[in-house]
Amino acid sequence: MRVAIIGTGYVGLTTGVCLAFTGHSVCCLDTNSSKICALKAGQIPIYEPNLSDLLEESRRNLEFTTDYAEAIPGAEVIFIAVGTPPTPSGAPNLEFLSQAARSIGQHIKSDFTVVVNKSTVPIGSGNWVGSLVREACELRPNGRHTQFAVASNPEFLREGSALHDSLYPDRIVIGADETRALEVLYSLYRPILDQTFSAPTYLPRPEPVVAVPLLSTDLASAELIKYAANAFLALKVSFINEMGLLAERVGADVTEVARGIGLDSRIGPRFLNAGLGWGGSCFGKDTSALVATAGEYGLHLPIVEAARKINGWQRDRVVEKLLHELKILKGRTIGLLGLAFKPNTDDLREAPAIEIAQKLIDRGVRVKAHDPIALERFQREHSRMGVNLCSSPCEMADGCDALVLVTEWSDYRELDWECVARKMRNPFILDGRHALDREKLTRAGMRYMSIS
Ligand code: UDX
Repeated sequence: MRVAIIGTGYVGLTTGVCLAFTGHSVCCLDTNSSKICALKAGQIPIYEPNLSDLLEESRRNLEFTTDYAEAIPGAEVIFIAVGTPPTPSGAPNLEFLSQAARSIGQHIKSDFTVVVNKSTVPIGSGNWVGSLVREACELRPNGRHTQFAVASNPEFLREGSALHDSLYPDRIVIGADETRALEVLYSLYRPILDQTFSAPTYLPRPEPVVAVPLLSTDLASAELIKYAANAFLALKVSFINEMGLLAERVGADVTEVARGIGLDSRIGPRFLNAGLGWGGSCFGKDTSALVATAGEYGLHLPIVEAARKINGWQRDRVVEKLLHELKILKGRTIGLLGLAFKPNTDDLREAPAIEIAQKLIDRGVRVKAHDPIALERFQREHSRMGVNLCSSPCEMADGCDALVLVTEWSDYRELDWECVARKMRNPFILDGRHALDREKLTRAGMRYMSIS
C-alpha cells in the first residue's frame, strides 16, 4: 500500500520505517527541512537502537520530503504523527495537528483515503481532524466529492525499544466509525498481525510466535485507550513508590514487595520498579491531559491526580536524603549518574535528572553529571543550568560528596567502583533506581543507600 506519514519524531519515523520494512511504500514528511535532509542522507535525528539498520534495510520503500504535494496525493493511508507538546495549562498544543489536517485537505486524492491519528490527541480529536480536512477539501474545485475517513490508531511504543514494540506489539488498536477504514488498516497491518515478515537478525521475534490481537473500536474509545493505558502504567509506578515510602518506615524491602505482588498474575511484574519515578514525553503529558479533559466535563480523577503528586514527591525525597546524609548542601559537590529519562534513549523530556539538578543548584550545590548518550543533547538544550558535564563516571566522581544514580544504564552496574570510591571526597551513593548491587559497592568502599 502507499502510505504517507506526517511528522518524523519517534512515533512517525518508527512507524514509517516499520511499515516500509513490512513491504509498504512509505513517504515520510516533515516541515523541518534539516531533518529531512539528514534522513535522505541516511542520518537519524534521534537516538533509537537499530533504527538506522532497519531504515537502511527498508530504504527502497522509503522516501522523505518536506512537500505535501509530493506525499499526500498518492497515499491510500495518511498517518498524522506530529508533536502535541503540553501547554502550561496541561492541555496539549494542537497547532501542528491542525496544520497537518488542513494541509492534508489541500492535497488529498478524491478516491477513498484513510487519515489516521497516530499522535496522542485529546478525546474527540478524530472528529475535529475530520472537520479540518473536510473544510480544506471543500475550498478546492470538486473537493466536495473527496472521500476519506478518519481513524485513531494509538501507538504504545516505548523509546529505546520502539522498533521491537512496533513489530511485535501486544495489540493493535484501531478506532474508526466507518468499516471501510478498518478494512484498509487491517490490510496495512496484516504482516504484523499475522507475523508473516522475516524478522531482522538484530530484532529477533520473541518466542512463542503468536498472532497479534487487533482491537477495533469507535474513535472515542481508541483515543481514551491510549490515555488510560499510560495513566495506568504511571499509577502502577506511583503505587510501588508509595509502598516504598511505607516500606522504608517499617523496615521492609520494596523490591521484595514488588516481586511478591508482581508474581500474582492479576497484578504482573512490570512497571513495579520503585525509585525516582517516571519522566519522558508521555506519562506526565498524558496524565495531565487526562485530568484536563475530565475537568472540561466537570470531573475529578483523584487516582490519576494522586499518581502525579507521588511522582513529584520522589524527586523531593532525593534532596531530603542527601540533606540527611550531608547535613549541609550548600557548597557540596554532587554527581548525577545518568541524565536521560530512562536508559537506551537520549531523550531529556521531563527527565528526573533535570528536576533534581535544579533543586540541588537552588540549594547551592555544585552539580556534575555523566550520561553515556545524552551529554551532547543536554549541552545543547540545558547548558544554562550550569551543570558540569563529565565524559566518564570516574572523572565525575573526583571530589564529589555524594553520587546519585538517576538513570539505570547497564554500564553503571559494571563500573570500577573502587576507582569511584577513591576519587570521591565522601564515598556515598544514593541509588535512585534500585539498580546497583549493595554488597559489591560496600566491598568497593562505598556507602550505599537506595531511594526507599
Ligand atoms: C511510555 C509507554 O510505555 C508507551 O506505551 C507509550 O506509548 C509512551 O510512553 P516511554 O515514555 O518511552 O513509553 O517509557 P517507559 O519505558 O514506559 O518508561 C516511562 C517512565 O517510567 C521512565 O521514566 C521510567 O524510568 C519510569 N519507570 C518505568 C519506572 O520508574 N518504574 C518502572 O517500573 C517502569
